[in-house]
Amino acid sequence: MVAMRVLVSGGAGYIGSHTVLSLLEAGHDVLVVDDFTNSKPTVTSRLESLSGQHIPLQSFDLTDVDKTERLFAHEQIDAVIHFAGLKAVGESVTKPLEYYANNLGSTLSLVRAMSKHNVRHLVFSSSATVYGDHAPVPYQETYEPLASSSPYGWTKVMQEQILSDVAAASDGLKIALLRYFNPVGAHTSGEIGEDPQGIPNNLMPFIAQVAVGRREKLSLYGDDYPTKDGTCERDYIHVLDLAAGHVAAVEHLESMSEPVRAFNLGTGEGTSVLQMIHAFEKAVGRELPYEVVGRRAGDLPAYWADSTRAETELGWKATRSIEDMCADTWRWQSQNPQGYPDA
Ligand code: NAD
Ligand code: UD1
Repeated sequence: MVAMRVLVSGGAGYIGSHTVLSLLEAGHDVLVVDDFTNSKPTVTSRLESLSGQHIPLQSFDLTDVDKTERLFAHEQIDAVIHFAGLKAVGESVTKPLEYYANNLGSTLSLVRAMSKHNVRHLVFSSSATVYGDHAPVPYQETYEPLASSSPYGWTKVMQEQILSDVAAASDGLKIALLRYFNPVGAHTSGEIGEDPQGIPNNLMPFIAQVAVGRREKLSLYGDDYPTKDGTCERDYIHVLDLAAGHVAAVEHLESMSEPVRAFNLGTGEGTSVLQMIHAFEKAVGRELPYEVVGRRAGDLPAYWADSTRAETELGWKATRSIEDMCADTWRWQSQNPQGYPDA
């Protein structure tokens, strides 16, 4: 594999930071752009000490077309992995304009600059949310029509559409749309991990904050679903497996025959909320307080990925277990009870 210089947008964030390390380990160079709306600059020094390499980082908002254009004019870039975006489902319902402007705007300015400077390879962060409410389980990439139940989710559907149209109209652009299931876990060093600002929306960071004493108890949203134990089932995937999926995808683009292709990145297994709580209790070595409350609006009972396409075409498969996800999350959270320091 020829070493590439990969622009990682949103590379200071949760999934981006782990992917930066995986790219460096695979022998590629990186250039990070992040405006730190949802991350802290201190992640960079952690990445540098873990990798033993200097990590070039530019801090600006990618919706700024001129700044994005200048970046491409001055830097050598072989491929782009585009993580930057806002991602809180609930917040997107109250601030739809911000979500559409940021998520669509950053993608448009990146793709414009890529076209102008002849950068042909893009890996895009999509989500299982694009399957909407009606897709049969396990989710397969061939399912249509894509839909979502939140402005956040619609930004993913729209970005997939925009990127598909642009790729079809261009000569040589290659785009991988990676549909993540539920990313959890942390780097095995415990030095980098998920650091949500404010009250966590997602299950794993909430459990981790209960375990470390930052929150009193978990509210379990519903135990009367038609599932194995009445609680919702999801396909949790370790962030290091996800990072490896990005390396596989960016390396695959050169040989990809279609201009655009979607890939599910999941394990293919559903884990219930109760199973996750108990697995985390095992990692911590004690029981964790939780209370069953009403269902959360918009939650689906159970879904998981069919990741056969990623396995056959990218040569990628998730290898880490629920136990690994809990042990690594706990190492990160217990070593960094308040997340990343401010400076
Ligand atoms: P994150 O918030 O930790 O990382 C995103 C990073 O992008 C942050 O560091 C933020 O500061 C930066 N950013 C946002 N808007 C920007 C802009 N306009 N210009 C420059 N930087 C900007 O999120 P994450 O969990 O690492 O998710 C990465 C991507 O994967 C997102 O696009 C998200 O929608 C997608 N995704 C995440 C999940 C998940 O559960 N974490 C699931 C499916 C898809
Ligand atoms: C959520 C988003 C999805 C997004 C994904 C990113 C919604 C409806 N869906 O998925 O669009 O792509 O995050 O990872 O917001 N739970 C609790 N208590 C909590 C938190 C969660 O019981 O405090 C339960 C939820 O009801 C759900 C499961 O845990 O059944 C997982 O929740 P979460 O981590 O928020 O992920 P999703 O809802 O699958």
